[in-house]
Amino acid sequence: MQLVLAFLPLALADLPVHCLRHQLTGRWNFFLGPASPQRSSCGHQQPDDPWRQPLVELAGAAPERREVELQEPNVAVSGSSKGSWTMIYDEAFEVKLGGLSFLAFSKFELLQAEGVSKNVSRCGQTQLGWYRDEKGENWGCFYARKLGEDAAVATPNRARSGADDGSQAAREPLDATYHSAFAATLNLIQDFWQAKAYDRFVNLTLRELNAMAGIFRPARPRQAEVGRAGSAPVSFLQSRRTRSRALPESWDWRNVSGVSFLDPVIDQGSCGSCYMVATTHMLAARYRIKHRSPDFPGFSFSFPLFCSEYNQGCDGGYAFLAARWASDVGLVPKDCGDTASDATGGSCALHCDLQKLQRSWKAANHHYVGGYYGASSEEQMLRELVEDGPLVVSFEPQSDLMYYSGGVYSSSPHGRSDWEPVDHAVLLVGYGLERGRKYWLLQNSWGTDWGEEGFIRMARGVDESGVESIAEAADVLEEPRPSATLLQLAASL
Ligand SMILES: *[C@@H]1O[C@H](CO)[C@@H](O)[C@H](O)[C@H]1NC(C)=O
Ligand SMILES: *[C@@H]1O[C@H](CO)[C@@H](O)[C@H](O)[C@H]1NC(C)=O
Ligand SMILES: *[C@@H]1O[C@H](CO)[C@@H](O)[C@H](O)[C@H]1NC(C)=O
Repeated sequence: MQLVLAFLPLALADLPVHCLRHQLTGRWNFFLGPASPQRSSCGHQQPDDPWRQPLVELAGAAPERREVELQEPNVAVSGSSKGSWTMIYDEAFEVKLGGLSFLAFSKFELLQAEGVSKNVSRCGQTQLGWYRDEKGENWGCFYARKLGEDAAVATPNRARSGADDGSQAAREPLDATYHSAFAATLNLIQDFWQAKAYDRFVNLTLRELNAMAGIFRPARPRQAEVGRAGSAPVSFLQSRRTRSRALPESWDWRNVSGVSFLDPVIDQGSCGSCYMVATTHMLAARYRIKHRSPDFPGFSFSFPLFCSEYNQGCDGGYAFLAARWASDVGLVPKDCGDTASDATGGSCALHCDLQKLQRSWKAANHHYVGGYYGASSEEQMLRELVEDGPLVVSFEPQSDLMYYSGGVYSSSPHGRSDWEPVDHAVLLVGYGLERGRKYWLLQNSWGTDWGEEGFIRMARGVDESGVESIAEAADVLEEPRPSATLLQLAASL
């Protein structure tokens, strides 16, 4: 029996684009369309559809040009104003400069050459993106082009994993015997965590397991990539903290003096919504913590899942973008939006009258821990977790993860560059120490019969499966009435 299995009923890697920070640093022209008090989807679908990207002409007839320089690791400069920027994983960037906040996907397209079609990334260009001012009073569309570089240079896209090579083997169902043997082997070769075979994965083919969320697992590029900035600058996060205060030895937002601040574990089914479930659960937990109201019912994840132009719905997305959309547009209560958690065919809808709500909420201060993508550390994650509440973390599960049923999970260690593959987002809710092994406590969205009642403890401090590479967070603002952008969206449904 061959104990090799690639597996992926998850979804982060969604857009067919792969750009790294060092490919984006340099001088750019930003072309801004007119600003308006009305927020625009800038021609994107809800949710975004990779193959129906709007034309840059939509930015406007005579866009205003601004020169912007993106410097390592996170400084943006335009004329005399200085701001910041971050990659959003390998697919987009956000730039905050001169009172405006810009967001755009890197450009990608399907090329036809000699009868063969392939996806290529053009990292020196963007798709049509969005900008807004700090107060959210003016909104517009923009696109960007890097200077001094042949715009036609295409970098090869990240390729599909070798695990499903299209062979016959990938099409044969993996039965209960296969899974039991796999789990038994895992229990033989290590004793840090316990493995078991789950019925839900029986009789699916390797291809089906890979395709459950309709995505491809990105291959790990191992070409020389620029290393991460040696010592991260002190971020805006650290500066407002009392860095000397000692952290508790362990933490668990499920039980702080007997009180839980979390939403229950849900099952995302075959919809690749992990990033949205984790983001709305993070925001709800942080609201409960800040307002000391553990009974707060929480926010709808279906509403942003199917309405946000910054993510691809059940095909995947990123917590950073989910939080930015919740900051640009707003959040609605759980019962205003939620349909069955695995409703893959859902559409953008609201099931309540916003005008009747006594309160309204939106996200604020969405950020990567450390200040930008690639700068997070265990210490900063611990501090933000204890002081502000849960964070969204992502990791690249190894095939053995689907057998996890308890203990402190670890797989083989790997190196770190200015980009790390991650496929799956979960909610970081605590940490601790067991038999001398430090762990993170994570809430998964594969139902309560998986792992430790829906949770997993994963090795901490060693960037296990990339779990310390992309920690994201945001806070919640409460307001007396829904924002104009939310009312405008509701009116359009
Ligand atoms: C290009 O990417 C899309 C979306 O990831 C995928 O469906 C399609 O098969 C890819 N095409 C090729 C030729 O790789
Ligand atoms: C898997 O397929 C076999 C043979 O078709 C069947 O007997 C078994 O009940 C199936 N198991 C599950 C969990 O679906
Ligand atoms: C919650 O934590 C307290 C200690 O702070 C412990 O006594 C109690 O058993 C815990 N409750 C649960 C449900 O784990």
